[in-house]
Amino acid sequence: MSMNRLPEQVNTLSKRACVHTISHPRLFVKGKGCKAWDADGKEYIDWPCSLGANLLGHAYPSVVEAIKSQAEEGTLFSLEHPKVGELAELIHDTIPSMEAMRFLKTGSEACSAAVRIARDYTGRWPVIVCGYHGWHEWYNCTTPKNAGSVTQDVTSVKWGDFAGLKRLVDEKKPAAYMLEPYIYRDEDTCKKYLQQVRKLCSANDVVLIFDENVTGFRSRKITAQETVKVRPDLTCLGKAMANGVPMACVGGKKEIMDVLKADCFVSSTYGGELLGISAALATLKVLKEEPVYHHLEMMGQKLRVAFNNSATSFSRHDTTECIGQPQRTFFKFPTAEHKGAFWQYCVERGIFFGFAQFVTFSHDQTSVERTTATVREAMYALNKYWDRPQEMLKGPAPQETLRTIVLPEKKPKAAKEPEQPRGAEQKAAFDNAQEIRPDSPKRKRGRPKGSKNKK
Ligand SMILES: Cc1ncc(COP(=O)(O)O)c(C=O)c1O
Repeated sequence: MSMNRLPEQVNTLSKRACVHTISHPRLFVKGKGCKAWDADGKEYIDWPCSLGANLLGHAYPSVVEAIKSQAEEGTLFSLEHPKVGELAELIHDTIPSMEAMRFLKTGSEACSAAVRIARDYTGRWPVIVCGYHGWHEWYNCTTPKNAGSVTQDVTSVKWGDFAGLKRLVDEKKPAAYMLEPYIYRDEDTCKKYLQQVRKLCSANDVVLIFDENVTGFRSRKITAQETVKVRPDLTCLGKAMANGVPMACVGGKKEIMDVLKADCFVSSTYGGELLGISAALATLKVLKEEPVYHHLEMMGQKLRVAFNNSATSFSRHDTTECIGQPQRTFFKFPTAEHKGAFWQYCVERGIFFGFAQFVTFSHDQTSVERTTATVREAMYALNKYWDRPQEMLKGPAPQETLRTIVLPEKKPKAAKEPEQPRGAEQKAAFDNAQEIRPDSPKRKRGRPKGSKNKK
């Protein structure tokens, strides 16, 4: 099938051929559980799993059932449907900081809406960001691929650079600080930084926005904010929320969200579209009833341990490591050639690795064991070519995606991987952690400064 009418033959840049190896398939035609099939019928164990949008697995039965039965009753009406209210209540029960919310369809929309709401609420214009927040104008101007975007007063800060953030807050007096609460860091580090950030934002009336597009529905307590008990003013959700069906949400303190009742405009035809709403309700039901997080943690940890032990066994652990929490991990290699050679070995044996590993509830013991065995073999093969990995590669090395991530520094000594999830003592410490929930930033009426004639 020709894809030539699509620029770069894709809709999503992380799916371009150049970000994979020549051995990766170009198209998938079917998915079930943790597996996907290419156009030739070859089966793969899928690890990037729809860039994190699939949490339970492809075509998860109860989600499919919810979509089918809603499709038979209509997908979108001229008035809202009661399920929209039901989902909002459920989200508030699960993520209490989301007192009021608006449903959208993509993560980019949710982030854009959050920034607009924060600007209107504070009457200020500058924004500080950390991480990736989608393709929309306000954020895209900060990326290298920004041709055609209008420059705005948006400044990036490195995750964990509290001094840098403080300087920017003093200098810019921003409306908001939006960050991905956790990118490949451990829970303790994440918690300490977020607590500091929370205090700083409250003291300066900066709207703190957690972009939980990736961490939402994938974290130990559904969101990063509930896991580390640090509550933002606004939250953006998307990706795994409806297990691969388009669905996103912006929400937070009622007082802040109330700007939508006045002049702040966030509205979309498909906001309350019911296939997404039904899929989100079905996904949340599974999260509440099944041990999804325990499973993600166990399976993700098995992969991380296998990768790190293999790297260590060839004394490559200084440059080669599987980092991140088990639910989302990332393979670090010294060069793109090393990564490509490793991926190539695996994908030729039916193990599809890509940008990151997003384990799902459907990655069962058998598929994880098959993966870990292949990981060990791949590391053995790569080790033989360690000084000339390009000779192992059958095509060009994979290119980076746009999503630029500052990876955490390597710890001085490789920490020993626990074989089981954290112990009861540690778990209790997290469960009893002091929740930080300060007052709202102060509302300042009037147009954000610089909102007109911006360059
Ligand atoms: C943290 C984060 N925020 C926002 C987005 C944008 O979401 P979407 O691609 O659904 O517009 C992404 C997508 O990768 C993301 O990872």
